[in-house]
Amino acid sequence: MNDAMACASQYFAPGPVPNTLGVPCVADRLCVAGSEAGLVAALRHGGERTMVLGQGSNVVLPERLDQPVVLAAWRGLRLRARGGEALLTAAAGEGWHGVVRYSLGQGWAGLENLALIPGSAGAAPVQNIGAYGVELSERIVEVRVFDRVENRVRTLAAEACGFGYRDSLFKADPVRYAVLSLTLRLARRLAMRLDYPDVELELQRQGVTKPTPRQVAEAVIRIRRRKLPDPRHWGNLGSFFKNPIVDPGQAERLAGSEPGLVAHPVAGGVKLAAAQLIDRCGWKGQRWDRVGVWHRQPLVLINFGEGRGPDFLALGEQVRRSVRERFGVDLELEPSVLSD
Ligand code: EPU
Repeated sequence: MNDAMACASQYFAPGPVPNTLGVPCVADRLCVAGSEAGLVAALRHGGERTMVLGQGSNVVLPERLDQPVVLAAWRGLRLRARGGEALLTAAAGEGWHGVVRYSLGQGWAGLENLALIPGSAGAAPVQNIGAYGVELSERIVEVRVFDRVENRVRTLAAEACGFGYRDSLFKADPVRYAVLSLTLRLARRLAMRLDYPDVELELQRQGVTKPTPRQVAEAVIRIRRRKLPDPRHWGNLGSFFKNPIVDPGQAERLAGSEPGLVAHPVAGGVKLAAAQLIDRCGWKGQRWDRVGVWHRQPLVLINFGEGRGPDFLALGEQVRRSVRERFGVDLELEPSVLSD
């Protein structure tokens, strides 16, 4: 039986939903799609509530999910070089860091700042992953999706994907769009983004003045290993909150009463550092029953082993409340939250 037939029939069965938060979650109906055709068949068979997940690196799950879940698990990388540029197409089920490693290994620049971000390639455009001054949307040419409203495969150019800070059309409407693959633009030579303070400092430390893309990726990997918990040891979803964007008036008032606050003007206002706000509320390294706030980066909530989805939501709420009380700033959750 081929994968499409399998996903359309008996292969929906109760099963554990993978996730980097390390919480147990069983879906009543789970199917592993080993191909695009399998995913499409599963979506048609599972009905409109069917969720597509990759490695579960940006989702807070309940202990039981009664909606059908399909895991996008097929792999595939295709590189087409033309002169000094290349287009790299990655299947949804590739691991994101593997895509970065492959591109660098082939001698192409563009993804070095995005090294070591957990999760699958298919999830990367959903939250428009970003780190150290680069957002994925800057590298995306197009995203192939299955559109459940139009019931067909579509190719969306980057401009049609509604990309924003940790946001996209796919995140806004997860029921409609399932990512099948994404195509990235790479270059042999590229003006690399080296001005993020952490990256600058790390390269200086290594005594590197003219870094290669690989050296930048190595610096990023070292920074991330130092600052962020490895989900294999401490379940986590990376940043649990977005950096808030406030209006300039509020930013100015805060600067008066809270000396030293980080504030960057961006489109639509002034971006503050959620990590700093949470830090100033005293949350860094705090344990809250079975979960806690990471001691080196308080934007990240971690699992002490027995934590469940609702524990994270409860701690997230406490953190939000204290930031609201002290700064009058509303923190928005970064991951998607699924409930049963
Ligand atoms: N800060 C503190 N206390 C701390 C940690 C940080 O005051 O304990 C301050 C720092 O001094 C710095 C500011 O907060 O000025 C920002 O910190 P950092 O440079 O570590 O970055 P971030 O804004 O907290 C964002 C992304 C990360 C990404 C880093 C590096 C979001 C929500 N998070 O964090 O992304 O790796 O920049 O580019 O935008 C993720 O999304 O999962 C993620 C880890």
